Amino acid sequence: MFTLRSLPIAFRALFSSFLILIGVGYLMALSFMYLVVIKPHQQMGEGLVAGISDQYHGLPKGKTLIEAALMGPMADKISVTDRTRVLTWVHDGAKAETYPQVKPIFATNCISCHMEGAQSIPPLASFEAVQKVAKADTGTSITDLAKVSHIHLFGISIIFLLTGAIFALSTAPVWIRVSLVVIPYLTILMDIGSWWFTKYLDPAFFSYVVVAGGACMGLALAAQILIALWEMWIEPLEKAISVYRTRADTRPTATMHRV
Ligand code: HEC
Repeated sequence: MFTLRSLPIAFRALFSSFLILIGVGYLMALSFMYLVVIKPHQQMGEGLVAGISDQYHGLPKGKTLIEAALMGPMADKISVTDRTRVLTWVHDGAKAETYPQVKPIFATNCISCHMEGAQSIPPLASFEAVQKVAKADTGTSITDLAKVSHIHLFGISIIFLLTGAIFALSTAPVWIRVSLVVIPYLTILMDIGSWWFTKYLDPAFFSYVVVAGGACMGLALAAQILIALWEMWIEPLEKAISVYRTRADTRPTATMHRV
């Protein structure tokens, strides 16, 4: 069986480029998660785990998204009196009859960004639109969860097949190779499974499992990439240097013998 070190240089170059790109992709995924999931919750004064719990399970005690936003990241977009008016309206059940009283507040403060047809943020230009964020928040919908889950499972299992196949050619002890190719698959199941458990079972416990699963997956992937790159480039380079050194060391002795 050939090993990473013995591969022709073109294969090593190909495998290394792939591994580096996957590593960068993983860092991008982390920063995306930070910006979309963690940072908005930090602005509401919540930590990582509470943020994950809100994301999948919904806000605690039937809190609404609009209230969380107005007390958190959107707080500086509105005056205190207007905020109190909006929140009173929301707490009174966000009724259609009283909507005209708060409509101008949304018009002046919010719809410059939350305009009709806005894509990545909720539009707030009509009663129907506002009503959606003024209901008790139940977290990611089951449709979205099923969508993200299957895309992740299909996509990530193929990525781990490729990185794992490359890593399996390393000369690390066999138990390390076997564990490091299996761990990413276990942790992705653990991670995605706990999105569902966070939503439906125990948000307090399973949000920790989401974080632990994600962290183990990242570590296993990083180990695969770094060990493979090391064996393909650094190790042969070190060997070449030491061979060169021993030759350089033996040369003067040989000359001395001849003299
Ligand atoms: C300058 C542009 C801007 C203005 C003005 C603005 N928002 Fe936002 N709003 C955003 C952006 C960008 C996001 C998404 C990023 C985030 O959650 O921090 C957002 C997110 C939200 C969310 C969703 C939070 C979530 O977790 O999905 C709500 C609800 C919201 N805003 C309500 C309001 C209300 C109410 C007003 C008016 C008082 C308002 N916003 C004014 C830009 C704006």
